[in-house]
Amino acid sequence: MKPVLICGQCKTKFPLDFPIWKCNCGGMLDISMELTDKNQWKTSKLPGLWRYLPLIPLPDNECIVTLGEGLTPITHFSDKNYDILIKQEQLFPTGSYKDRGAAVMVSAIKALGIDSVVEDSSGNAGCAIAAYCARAKVECSIYVPSSTSPAKLMQIASYGARIVKVDGTREDTARAAWEAAQTAYYASHSWNPFFFQGTKTFAYEIWEQTEGNVPDVIILPVGNGTLFLGAYFGFWELLSMGLIQKIPRLVGVQASRCAPLFHWDEHMVSEEIIKGPTIAEGIAIVKPVRGKQILEAVHETNGLIITVEEEEIVGALQIAVNHGFFVEPTGIVGLAGALRYFREYGQSETVLTAFTGHGLKSPEKIQSLLDHGLVL
Ligand SMILES: Cc1ncc(COP(=O)(O)O)c(C=O)c1O
Ligand SMILES: [Zn+2]
Repeated sequence: MKPVLICGQCKTKFPLDFPIWKCNCGGMLDISMELTDKNQWKTSKLPGLWRYLPLIPLPDNECIVTLGEGLTPITHFSDKNYDILIKQEQLFPTGSYKDRGAAVMVSAIKALGIDSVVEDSSGNAGCAIAAYCARAKVECSIYVPSSTSPAKLMQIASYGARIVKVDGTREDTARAAWEAAQTAYYASHSWNPFFFQGTKTFAYEIWEQTEGNVPDVIILPVGNGTLFLGAYFGFWELLSMGLIQKIPRLVGVQASRCAPLFHWDEHMVSEEIIKGPTIAEGIAIVKPVRGKQILEAVHETNGLIITVEEEEIVGALQIAVNHGFFVEPTGIVGLAGALRYFREYGQSETVLTAFTGHGLKSPEKIQSLLDHGLVL
């Protein structure tokens, strides 16, 4: 069976070259592929994540938009109390792992002949989509909360994207982009199924880099879950092909000041979820649209959602810079979560986390932390 777009709600299937980003019933789309056999694992000779092109469903395999992304290093990180693997996802062309999703999604957009898109973002997804749209000569409008970090705004603007600043919450921004998307193609990192076909390569790379000995536990920051779900989809496919025996236990980390997945209740309103501002701005997502899917992935892998306090995020940042890694506050949440996980569960398993965004993304926040001696 050829890969198809499939609605999670009414199960209607659409061909990959159908230019839609949600089902007519309003449901979310995913891409389904029939993978049952080891022989289906095929790689190409292309560099970076395009090595996995034979397993990345696109409307046209010849139409690839690339900045040379992927194959990020996995580095050992240890102390007397822990030993952990860190995948350095801050080392992407635009400074965050969002390039995985943007490269594949914008390749699909280009192949579909779409010449103008809208997206909403708290920063990094906007940077990535603006960059790949510039590469593909696709016009894009990025809706951002007016509180977005100046460095990220400057980066989006420099790629030539149109920035629409929205006063109010992150949810107000998503609503404004959603309205604009009624008459334009929504290149949304949380809705668009092609984005996850890019982030799933995170799992493929781990499988190859560990020579098939995938870690027992993978701990990742979660807002809308684009890396978390991508990892789940990738490992699920490896399992379906019989290349691994078990999907690693997936642990999602949220800032305790905004942890809707930890306290999951669809009826909760923003005021009940937001306990205050968090320095992990990128994961402060009150209503993750794929929330149920994220929790299913947690359940399926015997995983967990855990929370970290602001002090723990700053503590992890301190450890990272002491070891020479410059990471933005949202990008260090995985390590903060891993340290919390070790305190609660000990260290008997192999654990991997990721640095997800470069420190240069948030210079003013890091400067202010340094001014206070890296203490909140
Ligand atoms: C640096 C960084 N890490 C992690 C995340 C979390 O990604 P998601 O919201 O897809 O879970 C983001 C989101 O913007 C981010 O910018
Ligand atoms: Zn549907």
